Amino acid sequence: MKGRSFLTLLDYSPEEIRALLNLAARVKAEKKRGEFPERLKHKNIVLLFEKTSTRTRCAFETAGYDEGARVTFLSNSQMGKKESLEDTAKVLGRFYDGIEFRGFRQETVELLAKHAGVPVWNGLTDLYHPTQVLADLLTIREHVKKPLSDVRFVFVGDARNNMGNSLMIGCAKMGMQFTALAPKSLFPSEALVEKMRALCKETGGSVTLTEDLDAVCGADVLYTDVWVSMGEESRYAERIALLTPYRVDRAMLERTGNPDVKFLHCLPSFHDLCTEVGKSVFETYGLREMEVSDEVFRSPASVVFDEAENRLHTIKAVMLATMTDILD
Ligand code: CP
Ligand code: NVA
Repeated sequence: MKGRSFLTLLDYSPEEIRALLNLAARVKAEKKRGEFPERLKHKNIVLLFEKTSTRTRCAFETAGYDEGARVTFLSNSQMGKKESLEDTAKVLGRFYDGIEFRGFRQETVELLAKHAGVPVWNGLTDLYHPTQVLADLLTIREHVKKPLSDVRFVFVGDARNNMGNSLMIGCAKMGMQFTALAPKSLFPSEALVEKMRALCKETGGSVTLTEDLDAVCGADVLYTDVWVSMGEESRYAERIALLTPYRVDRAMLERTGNPDVKFLHCLPSFHDLCTEVGKSVFETYGLREMEVSDEVFRSPASVVFDEAENRLHTIKAVMLATMTDILD
């Protein structure tokens, strides 16, 4: 994988994804043992952010530092304003050994990768969030006591966005049973669904789209994401109306019939009134919690902070795999 970019899981085979997960588990164990081999010493990394972030930025920074790399955070560059994407990519490629991008358009990260001459990693676009899905798969491997190919995974909520898309791809690649439980208007694109169903014929997975809450029966994992993603802030009224019946609450957890069901969420999450947005939604719409109840978020079924920690280990694996010959 040395020299490759990581723009979408579509570009990675099931074997390559498994190799990244295995590497992530290995570097996680190393770190827990206090081993820091510094395999990225003298590498420079730049993190380009158009959108806000806690986990992704901090995971790239700490993963880089753990491995001896030097990291630049860049959120006010000339890119797109006074300098084209192509020129920016060519300049950054002269300075840096790897480039992370978080922003709006998938085309941006693809153009950067085309022109940079060094690996480019997608830290989230409107369309995909592939590094998050690696962390999610590692977390499921750790917490669900069956092979990934036997796991019944239900994504609940806004299924046509970056998380819904990338989870569907990740589950299809791993041969998992993926269900998107959402109102029809928020189903993923037919083109992507067809592509993933074709892939499932090879991997043994399945993709189901439904509005029926009974689809959670037998689930091993319930996953949700915010109802309104970054860049869509004008859509609260519409999404609240559409998605309130799909909140992950105790009744939905019980409906799975699985006492060991796990709850995952990429975070950040609106499960209480301790955020500015949460308070403003409460004042305008009277909701105290949105996509997940505070009860479920804090319940023993919830593994969201293990999942957040796994961003670090999986991102470290992506950087090592694409900047060194560790997997070649
Ligand atoms: N899950 C995730 O990408 O978190 P941040 O937005 O904080 O990076
Ligand atoms: N769908 C969310 C994911 C945040 C990690 C967003 O794009 O805002």
